[in-house]
Amino acid sequence: MNKHIALIRGDGIGPEIVAQAVKVLDAVAEKYGHTFTYEEVDMGGCAIDKWGDPLPQEMLDKCLASDSVLLGAVGGPKWEGLPGPQRPEKGLLRLRSGMGLYSNLRPAKLWPQLAAASPLKPSIVEKGIDFMVVRELISGVYFGEHKTVEQDGEKVATDEMYYAEHEIERIGRIGFETAMKRRKKLTCVDKANVLDTSRLWRSVMHRLQAEYPEVEYSEMFVDNAAMQIVKDPSQFDVIVTENMFGDILSDEASMITGSIGMIPSSSLGDGTRGMYEPIHGSAPDIAGQDKANPIGTILSAAMMLKYSFGMDAEAQNIEDAVTKALDSGLRTADMMAEGCTLCGCEAMGDAVAALL
Ligand code: IPM
Ligand code: MG
Repeated sequence: MNKHIALIRGDGIGPEIVAQAVKVLDAVAEKYGHTFTYEEVDMGGCAIDKWGDPLPQEMLDKCLASDSVLLGAVGGPKWEGLPGPQRPEKGLLRLRSGMGLYSNLRPAKLWPQLAAASPLKPSIVEKGIDFMVVRELISGVYFGEHKTVEQDGEKVATDEMYYAEHEIERIGRIGFETAMKRRKKLTCVDKANVLDTSRLWRSVMHRLQAEYPEVEYSEMFVDNAAMQIVKDPSQFDVIVTENMFGDILSDEASMITGSIGMIPSSSLGDGTRGMYEPIHGSAPDIAGQDKANPIGTILSAAMMLKYSFGMDAEAQNIEDAVTKALDSGLRTADMMAEGCTLCGCEAMGDAVAALL
């Protein structure tokens, strides 16, 4: 197959981790006889520096013309003082929205090799951690109206949280479908004791529930969910939730699996073109030092092969190679443990590519 991939290297550690994922993709292409071509796309802080805009239209167009997008990370202290619409993160939000990527899948899976790196007690970790956060990605408070006005001699800020039924229904359906492919348990996480948007979520979810009688469906308030994720993560199979709750809970979920550097994600809409990125940020403090963990990005590339290109065997091959690299004792600094061998970003990428 020929596939054209838009590469957004981005800021901070972005370029280093994307380089490792490309190395692995090229090795896969060679092994399986595919051709991957790449298109460089500027987004985030580097696009602000170059074009004065975190995502120029021309860059979005390149993504829309690609078969899928692979992203490293965007943002950093250099651009922190900028007003909201000009910040690097705005480029990412415009990209998600511009590509119609409403469905964000973030797996929280404990790699047995990294069990010791989990901050949870062994008695909790032993029960296993393997769940999927299905996060709504292009609505909610991220995309409602943001404004700051002067009122009675002080500033007043508002961030509107908005959801339309069709936006809930399409992600709710992904939640049920994802559960059907896994252990058939779905938890809708919300704040229905306070928010109208959450009550609307529940009413839409109840309609969908009738279509999926095999799925064991439950609901949980987000504050309780935050607690349950550290108390007994083994109770979860699939969590479906709105944009901001999903942002927060997926960071929490990644941490208990040992390292946030390991977690990939997929963002998809109605078609097969998606965007794939590790869920961690640009880590400016370690940028350019060959210290970053490239596995989250490498596994994101694997998700792209599976979900957008239908290359299941190739994706499995990458996951197996990552397993072998971890089995061999190689660790980047974020997941280093006693008796293991510390390696850099590049060496980890080399190892995974060689183990395919
Ligand atoms: C994420 C990030 C982004 C988000 C930021 C960078 C805008 O935290 O992908 O989880 O909040 O969605
Ligand atoms: Mg986040």
